[in-house]
Amino acid sequence: MRDFKEIKPVDINESAVKLIGSDWMLITSGDIENFNMMTAAWGGMGFLWKKPVVFIYVRPTRHTYGFLEKNDYFTISFFDEIYRSALNLCGTKSGRDINKKLESGLIPMTSEHSVFFEEARLQMECRKIYADMVKPELFLDKSIDRNYPLKDYHKMYIGEIVHCIKS
Ligand SMILES: Cc1cc2nc3c(=O)[nH]c(=O)nc-3n(C[C@H](O)[C@H](O)[C@H](O)COP(=O)(O)O)c2cc1C
Repeated sequence: MRDFKEIKPVDINESAVKLIGSDWMLITSGDIENFNMMTAAWGGMGFLWKKPVVFIYVRPTRHTYGFLEKNDYFTISFFDEIYRSALNLCGTKSGRDINKKLESGLIPMTSEHSVFFEEARLQMECRKIYADMVKPELFLDKSIDRNYPLKDYHKMYIGEIVHCIKS
């Protein structure tokens, strides 16, 4: 297992655009006995209401969505390139159909309120503090709607980063 140390969110010295948009993140919700994870590449990280926060966007059709709705916490995890195939699997298969834990080979570990992964290099545990559906009538750039041919608009969750660990 990697050796993790707790860091302050303010000390994350990597581009959020690269971390999320290029490296991708695993969003996990639930507890060690009953959780689900999915890959995500849309979201953000920043500072809001005097708190370090992450923004995630999850379509209600995802199995992970039910876990996010039920639980107060979620985690986001970032991995080295060698885990790209595990992220691909978690982003193309649903936990409704396969056992992602077994098939990805990723080893879950308990975080204070949710689930981290032993192989991740940077992980954040987040407490949900705000959530709302993306509303198409509010798109100022109407072309954004092209991302939603099925009209399955994302739900946005803002999570306060309560723990951040790095290996
Ligand atoms: C690179 C990549 C990025 C993705 N980003 C998102 C995202 O930001 N939001 C989302 O709802 N789905 C996203 N997905 C799709 C989900 O990961 C995918 O539907 C997954 O199978 C859902 O798993 P689940 O049903 O077990 O929750 C992405 C998939 C990939 C491969």
